Amino acid sequence: MTPVTLPMPRSATQRCAVAGARTTAVAANTYSELAPVPERRHIPVMLPEVLRALDVKPGGAYVDANLGEGGHTEAILQANAPDGTVLGIDADAEAITSARGRLAGSPDLAGRMTTANANFRDIADVSADHGHAVGSVDGVLFDLGLSSLQLDTEQRGFSFRRPDPLDMRFDVRQSITAGDIVNRYDRDDLADVIYQYGEERSSRRVAAAIVAARPLQTASQLADVIASAMPRRGGRSRIHPATKTFQALRIAVNDELGALEDGLNQAISLLKPGGRVVVIAYHSLEDRIVKNLFRREATDCICPPERPICDCGHTASVTLVSRRVIKPSEAEIDGNPRSRSARLRAVERL
Ligand SMILES: C[S@@+](CC[C@H](N)C(=O)[O-])C[C@H]1O[C@@H](n2cnc3c(N)ncnc32)[C@H](O)[C@@H]1O
Repeated sequence: MTPVTLPMPRSATQRCAVAGARTTAVAANTYSELAPVPERRHIPVMLPEVLRALDVKPGGAYVDANLGEGGHTEAILQANAPDGTVLGIDADAEAITSARGRLAGSPDLAGRMTTANANFRDIADVSADHGHAVGSVDGVLFDLGLSSLQLDTEQRGFSFRRPDPLDMRFDVRQSITAGDIVNRYDRDDLADVIYQYGEERSSRRVAAAIVAARPLQTASQLADVIASAMPRRGGRSRIHPATKTFQALRIAVNDELGALEDGLNQAISLLKPGGRVVVIAYHSLEDRIVKNLFRREATDCICPPERPICDCGHTASVTLVSRRVIKPSEAEIDGNPRSRSARLRAVERL
């Protein structure tokens, strides 16, 4: 698969690089004054498995690259007491506020957490700014994607069920939104995004329908257009016809796959010997990147098999904690259906 080259900003403060694109009307510095925040908390996924895979030690220094509402961070802070620390990173300032709120009643935990409103693609620099040099960290956790808070918060545009503006940014300081892609990309580029990031087989039909219906203002309007373009299948599908296209747009808006590659490589370099990187991925595109990167970093020689003598100079930096991917239990899936697609992998620094 050839990756789509998208004009995505590397830094949240960079201007939108889409020709002539402007920020949609929803762009704001914060959502707090705009959006009712749901009361339901995000349930941390595979919590016991995460703590086991991280092998959390009292006094250890950990980085939570996807702080979200702080569910995993809270559990790590309990496990690394009395003096262990967590640096929680999130691209979304609202997530950091929410995580701080969660720990507000536990000063012992809150006092050992620091936070950074940043993209984990810069995890090495962000960690260095917080006193964690290369080779000094006991563990890094990635719990990818979006939180229930983001999915359920009005105005964010992540849910196809509401007439929210087409936004989908994790970081509102970034200028490009889903509306820019939906309303400004030409049909072929749009189809490529939908195919490559959503693995949507009907990508060309969907892109053609979107282009014909422009301008599109809201997430539910977009979902209706996508549904009308999809071939009718017999029986009832468990997933909404817009699911894959919405995934594709979210990945593109936030350059999620590029950030993951950058972040993982840097996370490994942050570890001290015996330190661990643990990743929970929620779809095959993410999981494939994690699996391949971990396998490569756990291998001495990465020469093509036909090369008779190794000349790559590569040496393994990690070992796989488990050969097989770890999945949530049936009981967890019953209690939290959003955990269904979770896939956990972990490596340990040599
Ligand atoms: C699944 S949620 C994490 C939930 C968290 N583990 C908890 O227990 O509450 C993912 C979070 O990662 C953030 N995020 C996604 N991609 C990011 C990136 N590249 N850099 C920083 N944060 C990111 C999202 O804003 C979201 O808050």
